[in-house]
Amino acid sequence: MTEGRIARRNVIKGGLVMAAGFAFGGCALTSPLAGRGSRELIGFRPVALAEAKGVMPAISPDYEYQIVVPWGMPLQPDGPAFSWPPGADDQAEQMGIGHDGMTYFPLSEDGRRGLLVVNHEYGRNSHVLGVREPASPEQVRASQHAHGVSIVEIVERDGRWERLASPWARRIHVNTPVTFSGPVAGHPLIANPANNDWRGTLNNCANGETPWGTYLTCEENFNLYFGSKTPFTPNEAQTRYGLRQSGAGYGWHLFDERFDLNNPDYINEVHRFGWVVEIDPKAPDASPIKRTALGRFKHEGAAVVEGKDGRVTAYMGDDQRFEFIYKFVSAGPWQEMRARGVSPLDEGTLYVARFDEGGTGQWLPLTIDNPKLANRFEDQAELLVNVRLAASMLGATDMDRPEWTSVAPDGHVYCTLTNNVRRREPNAANPVAPNPHGHIIRWRDEDDHAGTRFSWDIFLMAADVYETEESFGSPDGLWADPDGRVFIATDGDQYRGINNQLLVADTATGKLSRLLTGVPGCEITGLTTTPDRRTLFVNIQHPGDGDPTITNFPAASDGHTVPRDATLAIHRKDGGIVGS
Ligand code: FEO
Ligand code: CA
Ligand code: CA
Repeated sequence: MTEGRIARRNVIKGGLVMAAGFAFGGCALTSPLAGRGSRELIGFRPVALAEAKGVMPAISPDYEYQIVVPWGMPLQPDGPAFSWPPGADDQAEQMGIGHDGMTYFPLSEDGRRGLLVVNHEYGRNSHVLGVREPASPEQVRASQHAHGVSIVEIVERDGRWERLASPWARRIHVNTPVTFSGPVAGHPLIANPANNDWRGTLNNCANGETPWGTYLTCEENFNLYFGSKTPFTPNEAQTRYGLRQSGAGYGWHLFDERFDLNNPDYINEVHRFGWVVEIDPKAPDASPIKRTALGRFKHEGAAVVEGKDGRVTAYMGDDQRFEFIYKFVSAGPWQEMRARGVSPLDEGTLYVARFDEGGTGQWLPLTIDNPKLANRFEDQAELLVNVRLAASMLGATDMDRPEWTSVAPDGHVYCTLTNNVRRREPNAANPVAPNPHGHIIRWRDEDDHAGTRFSWDIFLMAADVYETEESFGSPDGLWADPDGRVFIATDGDQYRGINNQLLVADTATGKLSRLLTGVPGCEITGLTTTPDRRTLFVNIQHPGDGDPTITNFPAASDGHTVPRDATLAIHRKDGGIVGS
């Protein structure tokens, strides 16, 4: 690690040198330790390392939590009650599993009633079905219905959150009709000889929200659900997207031909996944729309920000070792585009990031008018379907697994790089090789998120605090709040075997404090708040990795009940801003 740390110091020094001569938009990158005076942003008493290993969550003594919307809870009060393993039809009316990114959309004036829109990233067969491999189409459908997105209406009454009967509550899963828009819509690359409808979203990881009130769900490891009974020989693009005969063991291809890689009737099914999908939570009959202009890769999340000229930018990580960071900028101001009946997510430019030495960087446009790309791809649609290959051709910077992005009010974009034990060659933005604990990078674009140049620095190397009381590793979920705090949720090995955790960092002072720890085998993810920021919703994903002998969470007693993914609603006991 010694060499890595030296490399990092050089990077930060480079960043400061850059700031002197290349500050734009009033921005000069500063160290997290410089800046705002002595105002204490983080006042809560942290969870100590020694308390962070229990079979139930631990929270700061200044906070309380309540468990809401667990896997299997019916979306409507009169819906089918949870039973295990769930039947496919019941599961389609209940909360899915693998709670991940989510957004709270307030419905009432006081913000205490709203729609919670929750991604369901994944659930192993052993957890969902109680078997390693499905033995029937019914079991495959149950697994498919456990994936996707839930929309559920909740309200706070007398300090407790409850589910309500709701006209908006609905499940979107692997068999829900969807539509495509943008350059790939109508293209032969998403048509199958079987002429089957477009259906489904899966491996819904992190999320985003648009200024026009819709939800974005991001399809990450779609490759893992495809497989074949006979040997499968991937081509270059299929190899790059991780397609292989065994998939990840879901076995959907055994009973659902859509997911059989060697079935010639469904040859392009795999091109229908790996997109950012827009959902209008207040239009329960509207189909989810796959926004293909944002490219096809293992989408972690999509942090959308409106620039001062009204154009929107979406920042997106592609979570795999040595993959890239992207952004999409709408062609025009979003209000004007929508007034013309055009989605701001359908027309615009997709870019990939190149981080240069010295704290500067360049957004490289992924457009077919680049002769190099036109040589390789027929049209913009083919480029977008294979955008990882296109990005490599332009010399994008390979990263240590880009996970969540979040835009701070000062314009900095923060991005977690969770870890990369396979890195041998460091680069400017990924200076540690190997990088088992990960880091958080940040940048600021010129031209208020629309420009092609940016300045960047490393906010935090997890290795620098890993052996301290504030230890964390494998940062994943991330949210920059309006006051200068950054919430960091982890997913990976933690120091001394503590549970995955939620920490709060002060971006001005560098102070780091542990707010919450989960349960054994879980990850912490999914950060969203009420508008007054008095309640934070956060997810406990895959508690015990589904093993009831590890934890019964959220059941408080013994008895080896199956652990269930669930959301925690947390608040300060004194009613203060969450994180303070
Ligand atoms: Fe879905 Fe990269 O975590
Ligand atoms: Ca993640
Ligand atoms: Ca992760």
